[in-house]
Amino acid sequence: MLEALHREGELLVIDTEIDPLYDLSALLSLTHESFAVRANRLKGSKFPAFGNLLSSLDRIAMALSVPRTSIQSRLLDSVQNPIPPVIVRNAPVQECLFEEGVLAHLPIPTFFDKETGPYISAGMMIARDPETGLGNASYARLKILSPTEALIGIAPNHHLAIMARKAADKGEPLPFAVVLGAHPAIQLAACLYLGLGDDEIHCAGALLGEPVRMVRCLKSDILVPAEAEIVIEGHIHADTPVVEGLVSEYHGMYEDYGSGVLATFDSMSTRGDAMFQVIEPGYHAEHIYLAAVPIAASLKAQLSRFILNVGEVAVTASGSGRTNVVVQINKPRPGQARRAMAICWGAVSIVKTVTIVDADIDPWDINAVELAKSTRMRVERDVLIIPGLPADRSEPQEDGSMVTKIGYDATCKPGDRKEGYDKAVPPQSAYDRMRLVIAAATAEGNI
Ligand SMILES: Cc1cc2nc3c(=O)[nH]c(=O)nc-3n(C[C@H](O)[C@H](O)[C@H](O)COP(=O)(O)O)c2cc1C
Repeated sequence: MLEALHREGELLVIDTEIDPLYDLSALLSLTHESFAVRANRLKGSKFPAFGNLLSSLDRIAMALSVPRTSIQSRLLDSVQNPIPPVIVRNAPVQECLFEEGVLAHLPIPTFFDKETGPYISAGMMIARDPETGLGNASYARLKILSPTEALIGIAPNHHLAIMARKAADKGEPLPFAVVLGAHPAIQLAACLYLGLGDDEIHCAGALLGEPVRMVRCLKSDILVPAEAEIVIEGHIHADTPVVEGLVSEYHGMYEDYGSGVLATFDSMSTRGDAMFQVIEPGYHAEHIYLAAVPIAASLKAQLSRFILNVGEVAVTASGSGRTNVVVQINKPRPGQARRAMAICWGAVSIVKTVTIVDADIDPWDINAVELAKSTRMRVERDVLIIPGLPADRSEPQEDGSMVTKIGYDATCKPGDRKEGYDKAVPPQSAYDRMRLVIAAATAEGNI
């Protein structure tokens, strides 16, 4: 994918030495909406680093080899028709082995001025349920404490946290692996919201159109993508809390979550030419879209079980790719808009604002959504306010673990004046003629 971005002129290659202390973060922050970045020389490490990979819908479409308009159907299909992985013996990710002070080899960035240490931000965590043996892949942050120890920050309801607590209840640490630089389709699959026990790697297989090739870890029976860049092997100690200090969240502000838990590491394997992956956290494009697109597909999967005329579902950057959902419904029947809102709030706890639009509105286009709200909605009739719903712990307005949620029904209603939806545009035949004129002028270089 980096090579493809290079061909498209979207990869910035930096040969100047970059300090992982703040400078790498500043570099990715400045370029997050324009370039993917490959930094070839990092102070204190032999590994190059890359970041800003999946930082737009177009990049995600590129990663999945589909047109942008097919991203959601492709993800949905992967949830409905998963493909189990295959186990291979010779894995590129096991070409080099490190066993001493493993984390000290990596160019791990310190991102923001009030955070209290360097973070691995692009770690895809793979683990197995200690009771059922079923697999799980997800993202969580690691704050580095020493060359072999980190704090892992996982929300208590996430499946990895549940698995780690199950292991701790038996008096054992949970074996897990941190994967950096897996195929981007695998990274997207890891962000899907599935049921406990549904393995994201099977969805990744469907996204790739073939089983993911997995290799057994060197120190545990966890399976990891054989063609990733780097795998760090270790254990989560859910019964050993570690105070974190301030940490950035997706909304771009700091949070103080109190304690995470301890993770320890005893080995690391890499490709011979491995690159270290960084996702710029906080309110930055890759952190937004990598979560938003799989959450939208997961919501669509839930909605389409009950609302057959549901269209595209978006989780917009205006809600940091987490809290604001826009649902397209084709010719909604009375009550369907409110039902869709209830399904979204019920399915994903982080969702706060749900807007329902007609099929002619692109739900990812926030200006089009706002226009629909301002022209098709009567506030006293079409806004639903529900106080006292459970809040995600990251919710900025959370009060006593509760928050008020809001729904906007911005669809046309039978009987409303047609001024809300009758668009004023030139006839299609005039558009067709003028497209030809513009194309000819462009070809003649009249720009
Ligand atoms: C880049 C990125 C970083 C994330 N960091 C964290 C994190 O530090 N802690 C956390 O609990 N969830 C984090 N998440 C969200 C979880 O990975 C996501 O909710 C995942 O679907 C949870 O997995 P589960 O469905 O197996 O519980 C992050 C997501 C992304 C895309």
